[in-house]
Amino acid sequence: MRVKTNSTMRLFSPAKVNLLLAVTGKRDDGFHDLVSLVTPVEFGDFLEVAVSGDAGSIQFTCSESSVPLGADNLVVQAVEAFRRGTGWDLGLNIHLEKHIPMEAGLGGGSSNAATTLLALNELAEKPLEMEALSELAATLGSDCPLFLHRAPLIMRGRGEQIEHLPAEVSGSLEGQAIAVFKPSIGISTPWAYGVLAGHPSYYADSVAVENRLESWRKGELSLKDLLHNSFERPVFEKFVAFPTLFDRIRSELGLHLLMSGSGASCFCLLPDMAMQEPLEVIVKDAFSDSVFFKVCRLGANV
Ligand code: C5P
Repeated sequence: MRVKTNSTMRLFSPAKVNLLLAVTGKRDDGFHDLVSLVTPVEFGDFLEVAVSGDAGSIQFTCSESSVPLGADNLVVQAVEAFRRGTGWDLGLNIHLEKHIPMEAGLGGGSSNAATTLLALNELAEKPLEMEALSELAATLGSDCPLFLHRAPLIMRGRGEQIEHLPAEVSGSLEGQAIAVFKPSIGISTPWAYGVLAGHPSYYADSVAVENRLESWRKGELSLKDLLHNSFERPVFEKFVAFPTLFDRIRSELGLHLLMSGSGASCFCLLPDMAMQEPLEVIVKDAFSDSVFFKVCRLGANV
C-alpha cells in the first residue's frame, strides 16, 4: 500500500463499491441508519504526502483541475482534524493524483480523507490507535471510517460502525472482477437521502436485510442474489436511462449489476472477462463514448 521515499509517502486511496446498501430508516440526528456490505476495489487515487514548509502550513495540489483545493476539500479537512486531535503540526506538501470520478458513489473524497489520516498517523509515528482514528474519520463523513480498513466489511449505523468479516468470507469477494461505469450525471448524496425520507415505504426492512446478509455469509445466498441498493428506486425514477440500460444488460448479456452508493456509478459482476467488450458497447450506446468505464477487481492489493 505504501512506498516511502525519503520523507515522501505515496499511498493508494481506493474507490469502493457497495455490494449491498440497505437504508433502513431516518434517525433523530437527521442521518439515516444503513446496513451495507462494502468493499474497496483495486482502482483509485494516489496521495503523495511530504513533510515540508513552515509548521502549520499545507501546500495541497491535485492532478484534476475541478477538485477544490481549499478548506472544503476533505484532504485539507482531514489534516486539520488530525492536527486538532494530536497537536502534531509539521508543514505538509500533499499532492492528490485523481482517478476516481467525483459525485459518483465510489467514495473518492472519503477515501482521500481516510488515506490522509493514515499517512499523517504514520508520519507522526502513530499517536492514534485505530479507534481514535476511526472517530476522527467519522467526523469527516459517514463513509470515511471504512477506508481506514483495506478489506471488504459490513457498515452499520450511519456508516461508522464497522464489522470485519472472517478471512474466508472476505476472501470469497477479493479478486472478483467487475466493470464500473458512470455517465456524466452527478448525483448529490443529500438529495438521494432526501427522496428516501420523503418516501418511507422505500426504506428496507432491517430484519429482512440482516437475514439475507447472514444467509450470504453462510453460503446459502449467492452474491448476485444479495445485490441490492435502496438508492436505485429514487435514482431510477428520476433518471430513466438507468433501468432501461439495466434491463438490456440483463437480457442481452445475462450479467448482474447494481448502482453503487447514491450513484451515479454502477457496477457489473464479470464472471467471464470476455463479457467486458459487449458490455462496454451497450453502456456507451446508452450514454456516450465519454462515459467512465473501468474494469477492476474487488480488494485492495495495489
Ligand atoms: O456523512 P456525509 O457527509 O457523507 O453525509 C452527507 C449527507 O448525506 C448528510 O448530510 C445527510 O444528509 C446524508 N446522510 C444520511 N445518512 C447517512 C449518511 C449520509 O442521511 N448515513
